[in-house]
Amino acid sequence: MSDSLTQEPGQIIKLSQLARLTKDGHLREAFKNDPGRTARYTTSACGITLDYAKNLIDDASWQALQQLATDSSIDKLRQQMQHGDAINNTEQRAVWHCRLRQQDVTELTLNGEDIGQQITECRARMAALVDTLHQQQYLGYQGNPVTDLIWVGIGGSLLGPQMAVEALTPYHCSPVKLHFAGNIDGAVVSDILAGLNPATTLVVVASKSFGTEETKQNALAIRQWFTEHGADKKAIAHHFWAASSNITAAAEFGIEQKNILPMWDWVGGRYSLWSAIGLPVALMIGNQQFKQLLAGAEAMDKHFFNSPFEQNMPVIMALLGIWYINGHGCQAQALLPYSHYLRLLPSYVQQLDMESNGKGVDRNGKALPYASAPVIWGDAGTNGQHAYHQLLHQSALAVPADFILPLKVKHPLKDQHNRLAAHCFAQTQALMQGKTLEEATAECLAQGMSQQEASTLAPHKVSPGNKPSNTLLLPELSPFYLGALIALYEHKVFCQGAIWQLNSFDQWGVELGKQLSGPIYQALTGKASDSFDSSTAALIKQFMAAQN
Ligand code: F6P
Repeated sequence: MSDSLTQEPGQIIKLSQLARLTKDGHLREAFKNDPGRTARYTTSACGITLDYAKNLIDDASWQALQQLATDSSIDKLRQQMQHGDAINNTEQRAVWHCRLRQQDVTELTLNGEDIGQQITECRARMAALVDTLHQQQYLGYQGNPVTDLIWVGIGGSLLGPQMAVEALTPYHCSPVKLHFAGNIDGAVVSDILAGLNPATTLVVVASKSFGTEETKQNALAIRQWFTEHGADKKAIAHHFWAASSNITAAAEFGIEQKNILPMWDWVGGRYSLWSAIGLPVALMIGNQQFKQLLAGAEAMDKHFFNSPFEQNMPVIMALLGIWYINGHGCQAQALLPYSHYLRLLPSYVQQLDMESNGKGVDRNGKALPYASAPVIWGDAGTNGQHAYHQLLHQSALAVPADFILPLKVKHPLKDQHNRLAAHCFAQTQALMQGKTLEEATAECLAQGMSQQEASTLAPHKVSPGNKPSNTLLLPELSPFYLGALIALYEHKVFCQGAIWQLNSFDQWGVELGKQLSGPIYQALTGKASDSFDSSTAALIKQFMAAQN
């Protein structure tokens, strides 16, 4: 498991010294003194523009950060990823999600297996299912066309399709309605089933492992509902599909082999949108547009694998993130899409980034001497402006933010789009320039306040500014640009993992909670008693008392 993809951690540790050296400058001055700043710190890839001029960098610190990328394992690791080496070293797995969006997969083999053939077959089966559903030719056990599809999955088997389906709402063209069941909270499945008829409902159990408790329990509850409505084993087999790499477990559940779409060891859950896990997206936007989603991601792959680091958008975003975490001590990163349809993007990137890079040890199991992934959070603009932007503008906490805006929209309310864009740009400008005490005082006086009133109120109106942000502009929120945007964040996370020298593709930390919930469930249901710490024991007791 030990590998040589590690480097001297000193460079990362030294970032805080470098940040201290540049700390006295203010972005407002940087813009005033340097008319070429924006041109120098703007780049584009696959039609997406990244303006990173409003970051706390100057040419010297940016050069040092570029050097960090050059000295890191990014280049070696991305070559190994392409080659199919087991860069997920704790699970001895290749990391090949990029292959899933590669248009031409002929002669693609891994360890002697014809992966190209498997991908092609999977794509064809997905497309055929989507066509049959669109043509309303998938008939249920009573002979009526399927009208609803329930997608049962959690984490990487849900967040990607849910986000992309939402993001591409204007492209929806499916006669079949889609429902997502993730949380084990029984309210989710109960609410979905309340409006459905089993005879016209198709269910897809999406679980790479086919062992995840939430997914299993939801699938069992739905299967029970079918049984209660008179569906026999054959009818249930006809109505249930799976996307899984565990064919045995799916078959034991009662799903026929012909209804199992493959998942592979070389695709991590949070990177699986491009596989059969993308089926809900293909269903909702159609097969042709789904191909566009893959094409956008493939275009970003080509950019990432072939562009020099100084123009490489994922590398640039990775370096900026590391600069704030390890240089400036920031612990959070806001993701602020100025697009209602992108409102689920922060939850998706949360898993992508925090499950990938929220690690405590390097690839060889040695404790990391620095912090890694930030806390990712955010919501669609402008909602956040009336909630947490107050903290972004005035608190001592520094939270770098990514603002994302599609330039063109499909809805007819064009002036509202102008206003939305105005707010997006104004937020980045306000964070950057802030408002000085003099400006705040002058503003108060101009509003007719006395000198004394102005000097009392003005300090409360001061915004320090110098708060960093990126602005990402998408030509439009189409399947192509969404694919490119998602791949951009995937590669950013990849580069950061390479620089931090950790394995971005495992997630051992989620296991402990799963292990501990078993004995607690046994205790809660009176099936067994174990000894728990006094706090947990008291919680169990109170819960049990409430059930009687
Ligand atoms: O929470 C851990 C995790 O394994 C994620 O990485 C994964 O996306 C999710 O659970 C779902 O796993 P599965 O697809 O195997 O049900």
